[in-house]
Amino acid sequence: MPDTPSLDLDFVRGHFPLLAKNDFIFCDNAAGTLVPRSVAARMTAFMTECQVQPNNPYPASELATARLTEAKRLMAEMINATPEEVVVGHSTTNNVYVLSHALRPLMREGDEVIVTNLDHEANNGAWRRLAETGITVKEWRLRPENGDLLLEDLDALLTDRTRLVCVTHCSNVTGTVNDIAEIARRAHAAGAWICADGVAYGPHGRIDVKALDVDIYLCSLYKIYGPHHALMYVRRDLMLEAKGQNHFFIGEDAIPAKLNVGGHDYEVVASTTGIADYFDALHDHHFPGSNLDFHGRLGQVYGLFAAQEERLSAPILGVLTAKPNVRVLGRTEGGRAVRAPTFTFAVEGRDPAEIVAALGREGIGATAGHFYAYRIIEALGHMDEGGVVRISLVHYNTEEEARRVAETLDRML
Ligand SMILES: Cc1ncc(COP(=O)(O)O)c(C=O)c1O
Repeated sequence: MPDTPSLDLDFVRGHFPLLAKNDFIFCDNAAGTLVPRSVAARMTAFMTECQVQPNNPYPASELATARLTEAKRLMAEMINATPEEVVVGHSTTNNVYVLSHALRPLMREGDEVIVTNLDHEANNGAWRRLAETGITVKEWRLRPENGDLLLEDLDALLTDRTRLVCVTHCSNVTGTVNDIAEIARRAHAAGAWICADGVAYGPHGRIDVKALDVDIYLCSLYKIYGPHHALMYVRRDLMLEAKGQNHFFIGEDAIPAKLNVGGHDYEVVASTTGIADYFDALHDHHFPGSNLDFHGRLGQVYGLFAAQEERLSAPILGVLTAKPNVRVLGRTEGGRAVRAPTFTFAVEGRDPAEIVAALGREGIGATAGHFYAYRIIEALGHMDEGGVVRISLVHYNTEEEARRVAETLDRML
């Protein structure tokens, strides 16, 4: 194997039962990635071998405890956190809702929270509702030319009353990657916390909450080749300070359980070890003999993803940007370093649902709408047309697929 191998697509695709059928090109990855066999196997193993209440002194329960502990350890290591800093919950939307109630008692009337109109509603609605309790909510608005959030616009909103800045790491509409470390630096300088939404970043890049120096970080595992479940990192001291939302007998020092409302979906949590199995299979295949820890191994694998995604982006962006009747939302230059391979566009005088239906007839699975990032579609003036078309790729898409998508769009638009 050379020092920097490229992704072995046959090996990769062999892990995904849905790709084995090879009967359509899956371009709806931003809505949720496909699941490798290892995740389903881990869930089946839990349900058939130890689906009992954990933490009790009998064999099946001890096995359940061991598997849940291992899953939580791996998911925490995946984002470079410790298990006690990671809340495992049903969805990111749910996690944020609970957290907004847990942080409100730490704020005073008149304190300020900053949200954006680029973000998915999951990192918007619950924070905006704090306005009903006396919090001032300010909106960091994207620039209509390219959907960018400018740091100078954030600076103009920050004051000594700002308690929290909520912003996405990567947009699920434009694919733009924001400089979270720099936003965190500015928020902290103003005395505020930052809540970064990494849901759309996780499929494409390794998450390192410590390097980003965030207070809160959100990710949904069904976008990272896993089950419908979510992780929420909360910095240890902030988690201890936050007001518990669980049963009264779950103490304020019981982290992270204090930020769960009730118990876990055990079999779902156990299945997340299958995400680690998948990444490790890719790692061992491409980097035999390497002895890094899991987070380090992820770094190597995500490096392969980035190179593959760069190859996928060029043909599609090339076609879309060459068409005078097409408006691509977000950045069109700068490559994979500044944007994920999520391409969203509007075509003059055309119904996005009709375009997606035509793509479906060509064997291309894409979607149309606002993708729950309602505010950006409205800000860019596409809500009345039924939203926009989104084509979103990840590392398991092939160059041949990207070429076919590009040729089809060229013909169709
Ligand atoms: C960027 C982003 N944030 C948050 C969410 C919501 O995640 P969940 O479905 O886990 O609530 C999504 C889902 O599409 C998303 O794309």
